[in-house]
Amino acid sequence: MKSYIVGNWKLNFNVGEASIYLHKLQKKIPNYRDVEVVVAPTALCLQPLSLQLDRTKIKLAAQNAFYNDFGAYTGEISFAELNGLVNYCIIGHSERRYIFHEDDKMIAKKVAACIRNKITPILCIGEIESERAFGETKDVIHDQLVGGLSEVSAEDIDKVIVAYEPVWAISSTKDAKPATPDEIAEVVEMIRQNLKEIYGAKTADAVPVLFGGSVKPTNAGAYLTVPGISGLLIGGASLILEQFTDIIETAKRVSK
Ligand code: 13P
Repeated sequence: MKSYIVGNWKLNFNVGEASIYLHKLQKKIPNYRDVEVVVAPTALCLQPLSLQLDRTKIKLAAQNAFYNDFGAYTGEISFAELNGLVNYCIIGHSERRYIFHEDDKMIAKKVAACIRNKITPILCIGEIESERAFGETKDVIHDQLVGGLSEVSAEDIDKVIVAYEPVWAISSTKDAKPATPDEIAEVVEMIRQNLKEIYGAKTADAVPVLFGGSVKPTNAGAYLTVPGISGLLIGGASLILEQFTDIIETAKRVSK
């Protein structure tokens, strides 16, 4: 299975900065066929970046969009508008769940809208620190996964990517601490088990599961070799060109 290295730039880089970064990134990396490199800039950058993008090397992802295709929704952009512009969209990131109060119902509609508009959703799930401390990780993972996929049929599940991002490991979380490979492996197993129960064993194994949370060049190799992990979703380190390319090269090495 190919691996995915996804840079989530969050609310960083204006159009000029994003364009310069992309220019340098494209110069620096060859076309790695078994590593899918994806960057997720702000919505405003998607159109200009799509014009300078070498799609053989890098793909674009949106960070969010609204689930209805058009209508009276002031301030929103839709997946229908993003169709053709991006290949992926991050859905249900913890920052959207906790800062913007997105619930599983809304996330499910966004996942469905993505698929309807030929965009691959990267569905993010993950527990907060207190949920882990109270032994609730299994339930949280189950509920977020089942909730987020509630509108996805068995025929469409191969169009979805799942990302496990424990909120306590995200670098911007207060007192963040990196997850250990064993902690990740345990949750990936839960995710696959849940997928198996809903969609059957064969399908469950085909869904790529990414990991995100304080990924750095120093731990990328260990995370990429966690059983069942197919790639990484990277925040802070994706903003630093050397670190991001380092992680891409690690993915290339590991995939051999
Ligand atoms: P960091 O890599 O900065 O911890 O961010 C992870 C993340 O939220 C990616 O979506």
